[in-house]
Amino acid sequence: MSSIIVSCKDVVKTYKSGEAKVQALRGVTLDIYENELLMLVGPSGCGKTTFVSVLSGLLDFDSGECRVFGKDIATLSDEEMTALRGKNVGFVFQAFNLLPSLSAVENVALPLTIAGEKRAKVLSLAKKMLTEVGLAGKEAVKPAALSGGQQQRVAIARALVHDPKFVICDEPTSSLDHHSGQIVMELLQKIIKEKGASMIVVTHDERIYKYADRIVHMEDGKIVKVVS
Ligand SMILES: Nc1ncnc2c1ncn2[C@@H]1O[C@H](COP(=O)(O)OP(=O)(O)O)[C@@H](O)[C@H]1O
Ligand SMILES: [Mg+2]
Repeated sequence: MSSIIVSCKDVVKTYKSGEAKVQALRGVTLDIYENELLMLVGPSGCGKTTFVSVLSGLLDFDSGECRVFGKDIATLSDEEMTALRGKNVGFVFQAFNLLPSLSAVENVALPLTIAGEKRAKVLSLAKKMLTEVGLAGKEAVKPAALSGGQQQRVAIARALVHDPKFVICDEPTSSLDHHSGQIVMELLQKIIKEKGASMIVVTHDERIYKYADRIVHMEDGKIVKVVS
């Protein structure tokens, strides 16, 4: 049995705005294993984004426990959480969130630059990562001159450039056409398996289910089924 890298127990999250309350997570229990590609699926509004936001430490939760690489994230300071993310976690979103004024290679380099690495090293790692996602030769190109699929591949290179052991993707293919979506998933799967990392992919795109090791179905703030 491979080891557990993320472990959540009975996680509850309620959004409150004035009088209104929305119970987005109603007791979610889930373990994520080393080197597994897990998909989190379910209808819009069932709590998928809320759950991965909790996992990433970007959103507080009301009760339950969530351990990431053995650390109880509710007890970490903001600085400790930022350090954990910076070292071990990568993110890919539906909207690629690339900076339009930066070239492809500069976008990929950004997390390392922010972490204070030397410019020459940063650019060489970023260039290597762009090659890994099939974009060699596009280093100097700005996002607007790339297709949607290419932009998402730049975003993947940026998410993986610091070699994270856990990658969180929220609807990574939903802005892409079928073909680009398949290319993006093949790439994510290949890189994750090569690096021995783990990944959770939020999606309601059934055409990419085939890339999953396990599919976790959520409904109304709860996990209702897990298919291996
Ligand atoms: N910031 C927020 N404030 C209030 N309610 C929210 C907020 N974010 C999400 N919700 C509500 O929580 C529920 C779960 O949302 P979300 O996690 O975004 O679902 P999904 O990603 O599965 O579509 C929905 O009812 C949504 O309207
Ligand atoms: Mg969502």
